[in-house]
Amino acid sequence: MSSSPVPQGGGHRADPRGGPLLEVDHVVVQFGGVTAVNEACFTADPGTVTGLIGPNGAGKTTCFNVISGLQRPTRGKVRFQGKDVTSMPVHRRSKRGMGRTFQRLEAFGSLSVRDNVRVAADIHRGVLAGLLPGGGRGKDIDALLERVGIAAYANERADSIPTGTARLLELARCLAGDPKLLLLDEPSSGLDETETDAFGDLLRDLASEGRAILMVEHDMDLVMAVCDTIHVLDFGSIIASGDPAAIRRDPAVQKAYLGYSDEDGVDEGHTVTDLPAVTDDTLVIPAVREGAEA
Ligand SMILES: Nc1ncnc2c1ncn2[C@@H]1O[C@H](COP(=O)(O)OP(=O)(O)O)[C@@H](O)[C@H]1O
Ligand SMILES: [Mg+2]
Repeated sequence: MSSSPVPQGGGHRADPRGGPLLEVDHVVVQFGGVTAVNEACFTADPGTVTGLIGPNGAGKTTCFNVISGLQRPTRGKVRFQGKDVTSMPVHRRSKRGMGRTFQRLEAFGSLSVRDNVRVAADIHRGVLAGLLPGGGRGKDIDALLERVGIAAYANERADSIPTGTARLLELARCLAGDPKLLLLDEPSSGLDETETDAFGDLLRDLASEGRAILMVEHDMDLVMAVCDTIHVLDFGSIIASGDPAAIRRDPAVQKAYLGYSDEDGVDEGHTVTDLPAVTDDTLVIPAVREGAEA
């Protein structure tokens, strides 16, 4: 971490040769007979927020697992800063600047919110750095809690805080490593409307520091408000890519979500933004896949 009070992503470079920071190149993932990801190609660039959306079971989390190193693709490549990282283990990708939050929360329940972030910071610093005099470390961590909006919970046990706060704690833990690329899997679930608005502002702010943000998210209002580019997955394939306005208009997207498109001449008042915002695990978008995680 830098010596500034809050980790700053400023100056993060993409591939020095001019390519994207992250490149997912024709990735295929098969689980037995199921093709979870089918020839997916997309990029993420510093200073931008990229959305990955699609019905449950579309392959979003599997894409994240491939990018972060938890899942080896059946075919295809992942490049980070121009380097082929397809076979690189998770911890080395993390060291190179990939940070990830999980759909299922991962914090240490018996530790305080502050200590959870401290542990994450120590892991990123490495054991040796942890033994060096660390002037202002406690202040750094408190500034980070303040920044994500959970300072009031600093001394609470992580297993006693509301789900939305726990999601923000996940983000703080991730930011403690000062990542160049943030992979956020359904970060807004459990946040109320006001918290979601503040979270959107924070994402734009993090991007403006030069970080690349790749986000899987069900809350369409948030996705449409903060993303520069959106990719839509359906049955493992990317069926549309573009800015929010283009995605909103895209007939294939409307069909994937709602089972019809404006082009079918049915109920032309509907667009993809009419989808219900998914705020908990029980409310699902249509076209749930067999065996898919909510
Ligand atoms: N480890 C696994 N083994 C077998 N099938 C899996 C595994 N992980 C995901 N799948 C299947 O792959 C598809 C995509 O799942 P997932 O990536 O979790 O979708 P999403 O995150 O878009 O909801 C689903 O059909 C799911 O059941
Ligand atoms: Mg998922």
